[in-house]
Amino acid sequence: MSARKIKNDIYSVGVIDWDRRLFDELIPLPDGTSYNSYIIKGSEKTALIDTVEPDFAEDLIKNIKDSDITDLDYIVANHAEQDHSGSIPQILEIYPNATVLTSKKGKDMLMNLLELDEDAIEVVGHEDNVSLGNKTLEFIDTPWVHWPETISTYLKEDNILFSCDFFGSHLATSDLYVADEDEVYRAAKRYYAEIMMPFRKVIKSNLEKVENYEIDMIAPSHGPIYDNPELILDAYRDWTSDDVKPEVVVPYISMHGSTEEMIDYFVNKLIEKNIKVKPFNMSKMDLGDLAISLVDASTVVLGSPTVLTGPHPLAVYVTYLANALRPKTKYASIIGSYGWAGNMVEDIVGMLDKLDVELFEPVMAKGKATDKDFKEIDRLVDEIEEKMK
Ligand code: FEO
Repeated sequence: MSARKIKNDIYSVGVIDWDRRLFDELIPLPDGTSYNSYIIKGSEKTALIDTVEPDFAEDLIKNIKDSDITDLDYIVANHAEQDHSGSIPQILEIYPNATVLTSKKGKDMLMNLLELDEDAIEVVGHEDNVSLGNKTLEFIDTPWVHWPETISTYLKEDNILFSCDFFGSHLATSDLYVADEDEVYRAAKRYYAEIMMPFRKVIKSNLEKVENYEIDMIAPSHGPIYDNPELILDAYRDWTSDDVKPEVVVPYISMHGSTEEMIDYFVNKLIEKNIKVKPFNMSKMDLGDLAISLVDASTVVLGSPTVLTGPHPLAVYVTYLANALRPKTKYASIIGSYGWAGNMVEDIVGMLDKLDVELFEPVMAKGKATDKDFKEIDRLVDEIEEKMK
């Protein structure tokens, strides 16, 4: 790939990572990703906005040279995580006079993570301006999208917001701009669910901050550029709002079929009542698909058998992650079974300390569910239906 022109003197010089399938050794990337980086050439000075994952530094350097610049005055590090900052040392080797512009916290992190020399870094604050001659960069504090140090950079004369992770999507595509809105919406929602959702309230306030600017284009550091910014601004307004949708998410696992029989019954009862329900078999699901469902759903019901004295380990894993992701879920319950004893309900409930949920009385069957247990599931369905009214 080579540099791609966005407007006069503004180029996309990042790389596409078609093959990456896991981020942080945790988050599935079914569609790969990109590490976007941008050159802004002013009449007097030139800036590079973010770099790329260090494995791709050579491609970035080639693209920068291809954008026809002779020197680099600034490297803006919006975010210190290595997929955006990791190539700064290689860029500084080629352009040793460039100054790294970042937030105060970003400076500490870059010195710590990349061992950058303190003298190479200049701290910029909220609403500070840096002139490139006929173009001006303004910095906006947008912390916790998902690290505490992150800033966004606004190019005033062209109304472009360079937002780094904020508004990004893990999507490897040859489209420089959003072409398939549905595809990008889903990838951006997955990205929001997996890394932004725990910080929903701060992200909402960041959103309000950037809405004060006139924005013609949002250029994130993952995924395609939004030349219709309202697509992603609207989506973030929705995802960060306090509103939930009348949907039931059902992550479940079963060993010998007792729990599965109860979950099937529960799901079918909800369908009979026209309540939207999405079951996820934890042994087969994509974690990102579950995370997407948690963005909006009002209700989560976990299904698990008892293993030894507690929940199935996959149910522990999913409960831990759901608690850490802090979705705006309002109601929760548990459907499960046990052989002779156990503390599954107490163990699961004890792991939900970060969620502000009302718990419906769980349904626990001894072995295979009896008529009495199915009646209890009917009661649970009725309670859910009542809340959804
Ligand atoms: Fe794309 Fe937080 O790094």
